[in-house]
Formats: sequence, C-alpha cells, structure tokens
Amino acid sequence: MSLPVRITGVGRYLPARMLTNTDLARIVDTAHEWIVTRTGIHERRIAADDETSSTMGAEAAREALASARLDPTGVDLVVTGTCTPDGMFPSTATRIQHAIGARRAAAFDVNAACTGFLSALSVGAQSIAAGTAERVVVVGSETMSRIVDWTDRTTCVLFGDGAGAVVLERAAPGEPGGVGALLLRSDGSQADAIYATGPCTPTAAALSAAALSAEAHIVMDGQAVFRAAVTALSESASDALARAGLTVDDVALCVPHQANIRILQAMARSLGLPMQRVVVNLDRTGNISSTSIPVALAEASDAGRLRPGDQVLLAAFGGGLACGAMVVEWSGVRAPAAPSAAAAGRRAET
Ligand code: ACO
Repeated sequence: MSLPVRITGVGRYLPARMLTNTDLARIVDTAHEWIVTRTGIHERRIAADDETSSTMGAEAAREALASARLDPTGVDLVVTGTCTPDGMFPSTATRIQHAIGARRAAAFDVNAACTGFLSALSVGAQSIAAGTAERVVVVGSETMSRIVDWTDRTTCVLFGDGAGAVVLERAAPGEPGGVGALLLRSDGSQADAIYATGPCTPTAAALSAAALSAEAHIVMDGQAVFRAAVTALSESASDALARAGLTVDDVALCVPHQANIRILQAMARSLGLPMQRVVVNLDRTGNISSTSIPVALAEASDAGRLRPGDQVLLAAFGGGLACGAMVVEWSGVRAPAAPSAAAAGRRAET
C-alpha cells in the first residue's frame, strides 16, 4: 500500500571543508589507493567549528522549502534523523524548527543510525496519512567527524558530514506521488557490531575498555558490518519491492545509503539491478549516515535523473543493526533546489 504523500521539495548542504584521502594519509597510516579500492571513497566534507547537525540541517531544510515553494509557517512537523545531535536535548529538530521559522511545527529527532532518514520519512509520511500533519519537513543531518576516532584508520576514513532534507505534502486524489512499502527492521543482537559511545555510556564491563574513554567515538567490527549490510540491504530492498507489488524492472532509480561501493555493488548484483540505476555519490561524500539518502536524492533530482511517475527505491542499513527500504513514486519537486545564500556561498568556495 502506498500512502498519498508527495515529495514536493528537496535540499542539501555539504560543508565547505574537504578532506581528501591524501589528507587522511597525513593523519593515520593509510593510502588513497587502499581507501578507494576498499570503499570507493575519494573525499568527504567536514563541518566547520561553528557548524552542527542543526545548523547544517537548517540549511538543507531551507533549500527544501524553497524547492517546494512553501512558507515555513505552513509546516506542521519537523522530524530529523540524526545520531550526532547538537546535544542530549532538546532535539536537533527543535533547533532546526526555530532556525527555519516553522513556528507552528512540532519537532523531534529519530535515531536509527544510518537508517535514520528512512525512519524519519516513515514517521512523516504516516503523520500525513493519519491526518495529524499536512506538511512535514524530514531532515537527515550528521556531524560524524565529531564522533570519529581520528587515530583509528579502520573507521576514520569512512565518514563525512552534511545534511539533506525533503518536504512532504498530502497528494490529492489522482495526483502522482506516493510513499510505499515503509519497511523498517532492526537486529539488536548485533548492536555492538557498530556503535558510538556518548555521555550516558554505562561504566559496566559490557562495553570494551576502548569504549569507556572520555570522548564519544565510533567502535566498529568492519567485516561483520560489511556482511550484515549486504544481506540487510538486499533483503530489505527485495521485500519492499514485493510489498509494493513491484519488481526490480519497475525501479527507475535506487537511492541507497552510501557506505561502501562494494556493498552497493553486491546489493545491485543480488537484486539484478544494473549499477546505472543506482545513485552513487559516496566518492565525494563518504558515509554521512542518515544524510546519505536525502543528499543523493536531491542530487539526482537536480541532475534530472528523476521524472514524475518514476518508482524510486530507497534502502538503508546501519548501527542497530537497523535497516529499511521504501518505494517512492516520484511526483516532481515544484522548483529545482535553490541553494540558500549561505549554502551557495560555501559551495562557491569549493
Ligand atoms: N588503510 C590501510 N589499511 C587499512 C585501513 C586503512 N584505512 N583500514 C584497515 N586496514 C588494514 C587492516 O588493518 C588489515 O590489515 P591486516 O591484513 O594486516 O590485518 C587490512 O587492511 C584488511 O582489513 P579488513 O578489515 O579486512 O578490510 P576490509 O576489506 O574488510 O575493508 C572496511 C574494511 C572498509 C571497513 C569494510 O569492512 C567495510 O566497509 N565495512 C562496512 C563498514 C560500514 O559500512 N560501516 C558503516 C555502517 S553505517 C552506520 O551505522 C554508521
């Protein structure tokens, strides 16, 4: 079943500062060739000292509202997928809500690690379907650089910072557009395969000694996550298509979470989906957790890769281990994403 919900606007924000593989080779014992061969990543963006998940999320949300030609006072809900919030509370969504002037909107965060955007999209779409909201801004925003252990070469080469957003509105009867399948899963038995410590991390021995250092940081069993990711992405995508009554041949474009090119290639092989129909931007962004999908979606929309009526398959996996997949019938945004002045300025510098 597809919910009568349209994506009417898209937006994205990537910080100006670029960190290349060559830059990383000056920090840890690694090499450009190793990173490209094992992950497909060439460079990633890193937030400036004064940037946070809420400031970047607000930039992306403003761009999405401009693309939807929507006044922020018409927004009923701001829901943000993030695992790197500005603080423990209030929610990052609350700060975004204030920054964009959505003064009538409710606001809260969803933390499902890299599946955060799909989880937030599910909440937003179901709020509209249930009649509790008419217009929702769904944001994915992450400052992964603040929880990366910059001495650990097995993780620090993978992640980047940034934000992406979409505007959801009710589709009138007969109008194109829909958000369907809404498949979300998690396997808490593998919660320790990838996790980040934080201020509330217990001092019990369940977590490794490394995890108990003062700074919050990511701890990962890369190979376990890799294996789980391939299975989770392929199964979620295939089950979501079945739930939507579609086959892989109906998919115009797949916009997956961007973690590792080898994971995406394995998923595409397993689904029988040509890579030409898979959006890949991780070479320029690295893994931005819940931001990956909305940024890739906005780039695909701006590049004219999406047409009204297209079936777009979204699929994600991440810490939890959480995974999910959804099928969006593309309705076309009202206007191409128009970068806000600040975002345009920062992009011009790059
Ligand atoms: N540079 C150079 N060498 C490295 C690096 C590096 N950056 N990192 C690891 N190595 C070395 C290892 O030490 C190892 O050396 P050894 O053979 O002497 O012991 C060798 O390279 C091979 O290491 P592997 O771990 O086997 O490398 P692998 O091919 O598995 O690639 C990687 C590692 C890229 C991390 C891969 O396992 C992966 O992508 N896993 C999934 C990670 C992921 O997607 N995480 C995000 C989840 S989403 C979320 O929730 C945030």
